Amino acid sequence: MNYSFKLAAIAVLIACSLSAAAQKDMRMLIKNDEAFAASQYKLLMKNVPAGKMPQNYDPAKDQLVVSGTDWWTSGFYPGALWLIYKATNDTAILAEAKRKLIVEEKIKYYTGNHDIGFMIFCSFGNAYAITKDPGYKEVILTAAETATKRYRPGMQAIQSWNKSTKFNAPVIIDNMMNLELLEWASRNGGSKRLAGIAENHANTTLKNHFRPDGSSYHAVDYDTATGAVIKKVTHQGYADESAWARGQAWGLYGYTMMYRFTKKTEYLAQAHKIAGFILTHPNLPADKVPYWDFNAPDIPAAPRDVSAGAVIASALLELAQYSNKEQKAVYTSNAADMIRSMSTTYKSQPGGSKGFILTQSVGHLPGKSEVNVSLSYADYYYLEALDRYKSWVLK
Ligand code: GLY
Repeated sequence: MNYSFKLAAIAVLIACSLSAAAQKDMRMLIKNDEAFAASQYKLLMKNVPAGKMPQNYDPAKDQLVVSGTDWWTSGFYPGALWLIYKATNDTAILAEAKRKLIVEEKIKYYTGNHDIGFMIFCSFGNAYAITKDPGYKEVILTAAETATKRYRPGMQAIQSWNKSTKFNAPVIIDNMMNLELLEWASRNGGSKRLAGIAENHANTTLKNHFRPDGSSYHAVDYDTATGAVIKKVTHQGYADESAWARGQAWGLYGYTMMYRFTKKTEYLAQAHKIAGFILTHPNLPADKVPYWDFNAPDIPAAPRDVSAGAVIASALLELAQYSNKEQKAVYTSNAADMIRSMSTTYKSQPGGSKGFILTQSVGHLPGKSEVNVSLSYADYYYLEALDRYKSWVLK
């Protein structure tokens, strides 16, 4: 921990000892936002056709975009419904959550890219954690086996996207998130091989994706036979050498989650390093919701990415569980700042955003797609952060 980080930790520790009122405010914020989420999602469910999932809402066009189940975000809406049901016991939300799992189930055989972990673990993983229904577990175990079809032994990694004019065999930092499916399955009735693949992938990513300051490249392209790195570039970030905000968020969450399962200290050390990069970055705004890229050239006019803020808040709350007292205070207080910002500045109007909870995320700015919109995964990780704060901080 560097000197300024240490001073911040001490300041936060002092503030925390005075903060019973702040904890009461957080309890109230969480309760209000859970109720708000239920009422928004009852609106959203009316706007989404039976076989589709909500993907985004663009306020500039007043348009809700829905997707099929093979789009990478398809698991977040059912996952968010399960999280809202867990918080509120609302039976209308439960009924929609069950309906959408029936739609999503076929994705357990999906091999088109690496995203099966997002799609199945965020949906069926939450459903199983809440209900313990063995049918849901079967879906998770099948999906984990499917995920291994993209494992390339020569690369010691799971290939993210198929070969294209731009890439040979790319692995993106986002792929760390898919490892939760493999690690969980391996420890809950699936093969030991699943965890081996996940750890090989995490080790390869640790070796090739990170810069000395703890930030990561978005995409590393490989030779499948030898595992040699062909190039390190961006796809959704500002530049090859920039720090795309959601990529940093996926890395932080991914290595924290991998430590949860494996207790490997190199994963924990990387998670702390990424957290340090994010929290001490001069371009992290005062409200702690990042710009879409830490190196966006038009900061402070650059768009924020609330989805990155939500993923980071949720990940920091888990990392705090594996931290000493000073680090825990810093991570928890930063996560609380992010939650408070999202709950105020970046929250939809009641009945607004066609039913999404949050506003102002960025999907793919260089592709001119999903800029300043509501996104299903921003809502999902926000709900997860609220659940984690309630369970781990307020207790
Ligand atoms: N995994 C795709 C994204 O974060 O946009």
